[in-house]
Amino acid sequence: MVKISILGASGTIGKTVGFSLAEEPGVDEIVMYSREKSYDKVIGEIRDMYDALTARNVDIKLIPSCDIADIVNSDIVIISAGIPRQENMSRLDLAIPNAKIVKDYSKSIAKYAPNSIMIVVTNPVDVMTTIALESSGFDKSKVIGLGNHLDSLRLKTQISKHFDINPSEIHTRVIGEHGNHMVPLLSSTSIGGLLLENFSAASQFNVNDAIFKLKNAGNNIISKKGSTEYGPAFAIVSLVSTIINDEKKILTISTYLNGEVEGVYDVSLGVPTLLGKEGIKSIIPVHMNDNERMEFFDAARTVKKCTNYIKKCSKRD
Ligand code: 2OP
Repeated sequence: MVKISILGASGTIGKTVGFSLAEEPGVDEIVMYSREKSYDKVIGEIRDMYDALTARNVDIKLIPSCDIADIVNSDIVIISAGIPRQENMSRLDLAIPNAKIVKDYSKSIAKYAPNSIMIVVTNPVDVMTTIALESSGFDKSKVIGLGNHLDSLRLKTQISKHFDINPSEIHTRVIGEHGNHMVPLLSSTSIGGLLLENFSAASQFNVNDAIFKLKNAGNNIISKKGSTEYGPAFAIVSLVSTIINDEKKILTISTYLNGEVEGVYDVSLGVPTLLGKEGIKSIIPVHMNDNERMEFFDAARTVKKCTNYIKKCSKRD
């Protein structure tokens, strides 16, 4: 029996995660938690979802909730609650209001679902991953930030569409900050096992243009439809599937570092990790070229500065 709770279920990402997870084999129960003022909306979302799921003979329990105690004994808790980014805002602009939300929810998760694995989505997600870790007191293997897994999917999409090759043939990663200081590891990107730089058609692939599009992917979607939705939702579903099926995949998620990558410590950043039923099994050391390494250090400085500022602010609360 796998129970998953979503905190922020009335939001665009939260509700789409709930609907996407409902069809995931192995998931038995989803608590869709929101603040009381949005409780009725979540009831409406669930009724609408049941009608769709019945068309596919899917039998699952979707539970609307505005009582945080309903998350009791969840296996996985997804935190997507918070103020969403508006067009041309940076994710870091959300840090102060969202840190209090994540801090309070993390304490509740520690109280009601102490054996759960947390997936943090709220932005700025790298900062929020550290806030969730420290507020919950969880082991760092149990606190996962969505971050660069989504960016890695976006880069994979670009390469797949450019070369008209199935995404399954594209292996690439984005590490660092889920933000302006994200670091696409093009030096270790491959297509069908052939390094991108060796790939015969690579010359038509405009790297600078691809990196610009990658860094602005989220803002571009927000400018057109108001919020990103399907990308984050399916990225989260792939994390949940990897965990509940103990798939032992290497996915790039935000985790608190203690020097495992390039000696960077006391900050959460996107790095390749081996994921399974216990959460993060191990952090995979990353080979970077000099430029990528410098960019990774820039990401560490930026995120650590914001994290320390937020922690100082929250001490005053
Ligand atoms: C995104 O880039 C929500 O930060 C997430 O879509």
